[in-house]
Formats: sequence, C-alpha cells, structure tokens
Amino acid sequence: MNAKLLHINTIGCQMNVYDSEQIAAHMAQLGYQQTSSPQAADLIIVNTCTIREKAEQKAYSFIGRLARLKRKKSHLIIGIGGCVAQQEGEKILDRLPFVDIVFGTQAIHRLPLLIRQIEKKRCQIVDIEMAADTQATEPIIGLHRETSVSRFVTIMRGCDNYCSYCVVPFVRGRETSRQPDKIIQEIRTLIDNGAKEVTLLGQNVNSYGKKEGLCSFPELLARIDELEGLLRLRFTTSHPKDLKGNLIRSFKDLNKLCHHIHLPVQSGSNKILKQMNRKYTRELYLDKVLKLRDTCSDIAVTSDIIVGFPGETEADFEDTLDLIKTVEYDGLFAFQYSDRPTSPSVHLPDKVSDSQKKERLQILLAMQDAITRKKNQALVGSIQEILAEGFSKKEISGKSANGRQLAQWMGRTSTNNIVNFYHDYDAPDSGQAHSGKLINVRIEKAFSHSLWGKPLAGASTAKGVKGVECYAA
Ligand code: SAH
Ligand code: SF4
Ligand code: F3S
Repeated sequence: MNAKLLHINTIGCQMNVYDSEQIAAHMAQLGYQQTSSPQAADLIIVNTCTIREKAEQKAYSFIGRLARLKRKKSHLIIGIGGCVAQQEGEKILDRLPFVDIVFGTQAIHRLPLLIRQIEKKRCQIVDIEMAADTQATEPIIGLHRETSVSRFVTIMRGCDNYCSYCVVPFVRGRETSRQPDKIIQEIRTLIDNGAKEVTLLGQNVNSYGKKEGLCSFPELLARIDELEGLLRLRFTTSHPKDLKGNLIRSFKDLNKLCHHIHLPVQSGSNKILKQMNRKYTRELYLDKVLKLRDTCSDIAVTSDIIVGFPGETEADFEDTLDLIKTVEYDGLFAFQYSDRPTSPSVHLPDKVSDSQKKERLQILLAMQDAITRKKNQALVGSIQEILAEGFSKKEISGKSANGRQLAQWMGRTSTNNIVNFYHDYDAPDSGQAHSGKLINVRIEKAFSHSLWGKPLAGASTAKGVKGVECYAA
C-alpha cells in the first residue's frame, strides 16, 4: 500500500516551525509521509500566524485556494492549526466550510486521534482546548526526520507579559517551561542525528523555570554548553526587562554560546514603551546594551521595532531613530503596527494612518540599511569562523577559471552574519567545507544582508565560537 502523504504549510515564527515538525512526527505514527506538493497530498495542514493582520490574510488566502483541490479530490483532509486556529476556532468553519479540522496550539498531540476520527467518519472537528497537562504536550523526540545542522528546541511555551499590542498570550496561553532533563534529552537526540547548533526558543527565555522552580536560564545554558558534539548554542527571545547580569556573563563564560542577542526594543520613546506595557525605559535598555558590549565586545545586537503604535508622534518616532543611531544594531526587524482584535491596544485612541506608518517604516529601514552596510563593509578582509550549513538557497553552481566544479554554500558567523561561499569539490582540501563543520573564511565582499567569503585551506582549529580570529588581511 502506498504511504499517505502530508503537506504542511508553515506561516509565522520559529515556534510554528518547531510545531510543524511535531505535527509531522505525530502524523508519521499514522503512516503519513511528508510531501512538498499540496496537489499530491491526502492531508494538508496549514500552521497559521496571527501576529499581524497580514499574516492572518496570508493564511486565509492559502486556505481559500485549497477549495479547488478539495473539489477534485474528495478524500483530501484539510486541517488548520496554529495561532489563527486558536483565535478563531469554529468561525473558520463558517467562513471556509470545506475545512475538516481546526486545531489549536495546544492540541498537536491529539492530532493523530482526531485525524483518524475524520478518516473513519468524515466529520468536522474543532479542538482549541488549552491543555492543563503539560506532560501531555511534551514533544515527541527521536522521530525527527530532519537532519539539518541547525535546529530549534522549544524550551517554554506561552507568555505572561501582555504587551498591549500582542496576541501571543491569548493564542499560546500561559507561560510554561519544560523540564531541563527533557530538553537535554531532546538536544542529545538531535546531536545524534547530525545537529551541530541548537537555538532555544521561548517568548521570554529570561523567565525560564521561574514559575515551576526549575533551574535558571543561565544554568540551563551551562548544562547544554557541556554537551559533547554540539558546536554552537543560540537562544531567542530575551525580554529587555528581565535581562540580568547572570545571563550577560554567560556570553563570556560559555564556550559555545554564540555572540548574538536578539533584544527587541519595540520603540525608543518612553511614552510609547509605557503604552506598550513593556516595563522598561530607553535608558534602562541602553544600559543593558552597554553591559552586554562591556562583557562581550563583539556581540551582535538585533531588535524588533513597531512603527506607528497608537499615539506615536513625530517626536516619538524621532526618539526611535535616535535609539537606532545610538545602538547601531547589527540587524532589525521592523513592522507597521497592526490592530489585533484581542489585544488591548486596539482600544487606544490616536491611531496612526497607514500612509504615515509606511513612510516611517521606510525611513527607519533606510537608516538601518546604511548601518548594516557599514558594519558588513568593515568585515571585508577579516577572517571569520563559520558553521557551514549546506547549499545556500540559491544553489548557484558554476565553474572556476580552471574548470573546476563549484557550488554555492552558506554558513553563519557566531554573530549570525550569513556568509555565502563557493565550495570547490575538486580542491585537494575539499573535505573541509562539509556541512556541519566550522571553517575559516576570508570575507571578500559585503552586501546589506549577507557577506561573501573564500574558505581558507585547512579546517578551523577552534573548538567552538571562542578562538575566532578576526584581523585585517
Ligand atoms: N516574544 C517576543 C516577540 C514575539 S512577536 C518579544 O517579546 O520580543 C515578534 C514581533 O512581532 C514583536 O517583537 C513585535 O515587534 C511584532 N509584533 C507583535 N505584535 C504586533 C502588532 N500587533 N503589530 C505589529 N507588530 C507586532
Ligand atoms: Fe508578545 Fe510581549 Fe509576550 Fe513578546 S513578551 S510574546 S511581545 S506579549
Ligand atoms: Fe508565532 Fe505568529 Fe503565533 S509569531 S506565536 S505563529 S501569532
């Protein structure tokens, strides 16, 4: 009998990427194999995001297009999961009656049972129950089919911060942390399957384990840092209000912790930060950035910013630009404020017009672009250690001047800069660029979102991120 085929479309953040892998692992138990083709699938799952209106629209437009497939193939099962599913529940069935199942962010472990029911009875199901039992929501480990070098591991779910613009506390539920032993066990399994780098995921990793009385986040990092076979460790996201000295010191003390922190500031105006319920001031934020740089001089700092939050004046926006100039971020994700029906800020007066939001976003992005270009340009001529991840997305291959076979690869620096490079398959030291290895590259060109480098002969001597040599050629 042919295996049944499952297609998953993932929209949204890394949490959804991780959850989609879990969905695949659960469905493998029912005999479903993954396919990249929606047309070939017997089961299509859309893992949705509702952080901004655009993300929600993207989900609805993809699902809308599935109606035609369903008409052609009556046994096709269509499932909607993730944050839109959690938020909208049965309303999705009213709007899109051809959908078979709507399941929430905490129902993934029940999916095999629910899908089997649909296979047998061809019924429609809505399950958006928030699970009280955290053990039941423990991920399946060991069934991962993915073998990539860099993997995500969710260490906590939900969020208790209630930033006034944000849907996450409503669609992901209360903050809960996983047991350290379970996390370590999962990472060990990933290492056995070829992972060399893990990124720990949580909405606010600084509060890891506090509620449950588990170890602290820096203690968890120290335990993971010791795992044999792991080369690099990253985490996201750290809330500025909870970033304390012990975590800052980890960047100096731990060998494998990469020199990068994503520290979302959201706004540079104290008035707006208060309205956002962020619980820090720009002064406090800037002080933390200084401390990070004092402790780890080459640390890369990146951020998220929202422009056009209700009540944001020109002066508030100028404060944000001024903060960006002061920090000189290594990278920024900037978004136009989007009203979400469940978030408290929907009720705030003085909404900023769409055209103004768009204009502010462009000004801000142009400023950041100049900063990133300048920073990337300064790296030209230096030697950087990168973790080679594999073919770069473009997969351009070519021939070198002497007719050798080349392929374009990518890797990242500890500071999370993407470096593309040619791997020369015919070179005598060809083995050094194999996926999952730390290699030294000389940076030859800088672009706004990536660097171009040339691998140097001989594998990197460094064991982890420490020992990165960085000097002008
Ligand atoms: N937990 C993370 C962020 C998760 S959401 C943190 O606290 O930083 C990712 C980003 O989406 C946020 O940092 C914010 O910049 C943006 N975002 C969230 N809600 C938004 C909204 N309603 N409109 C525009 N951007 C939003
Ligand atoms: Fe949303 Fe704030 Fe929680 Fe981040 S910390 S997920 S922005 S509520
Ligand atoms: Fe992530 Fe979007 Fe949900 S950002 S937590 S998938 S709303």
